[in-house]
Amino acid sequence: MAGRVQLDVVTLFPAWFDWFRSQRHVMAALAAGNDLRTLDLREHTPLSGGQVDDTPYGGGAGMVLRVDVMDAALRAFYGEDPVQLRTQRRVIALTPGGRLLDDRFVDELAGEPEITLLCGRYEGFDERIVQHFATDAVSIGHYVLAGGELAAMVVADAVMRKLPGALGHAGSALEESFSVALEGRPEYPHYTRPAEYRGWKVPGVLLSGHHEEIRSWRRQRSRERSAPST
Ligand code: 6GU
Repeated sequence: MAGRVQLDVVTLFPAWFDWFRSQRHVMAALAAGNDLRTLDLREHTPLSGGQVDDTPYGGGAGMVLRVDVMDAALRAFYGEDPVQLRTQRRVIALTPGGRLLDDRFVDELAGEPEITLLCGRYEGFDERIVQHFATDAVSIGHYVLAGGELAAMVVADAVMRKLPGALGHAGSALEESFSVALEGRPEYPHYTRPAEYRGWKVPGVLLSGHHEEIRSWRRQRSRERSAPST
């Protein structure tokens, strides 16, 4: 079960997370004893002029985040060698080539006490960052974002809403889309008042008060929505 999480984000744009931190469910998770910190890569770079990236060996477009810069930032923040750090906490590199984020992995992360999210920019990370400093490489979909920050927010959002105190109604995270309770399927459709609008009626079974029938109807709708392969 999910406990308290300390989530750190290593980024070139820490200010982006000020907005994220001010969202209601995130504020609630933080008030409940969880933590969301940012670590500014540029603040700790050993290179002159705040340099953090470089051109790729072998040529090609774009810039690559340097391994020595990530090493220095993690070392300065945690006070230890990042190679050691990853034996003690979950360190996740956000990269389009990583494993696809899904509900099961989010559940796993929500059970971790300490997580560090590494955001790449430009063309991404020097591969040695992923190989030697990270425990996981994660992607949020088959498309490319300009950087890992939005992906980090997606991960943080998905994890934090699973934590105790983040949701108004604790049950809503249990039986939701893709959850174990729904056998990994998408959620059933929801309706609220009015019961009829412009002639569009809410399915009668939901107004019936027959909880067993409602449960069975919902399970059925959820199955219909899932891909034919599952
Ligand atoms: Cl984690 N990073 C970037 N830059 N693009 C992505 C992504 C991550 N996941 C999907 N696209």
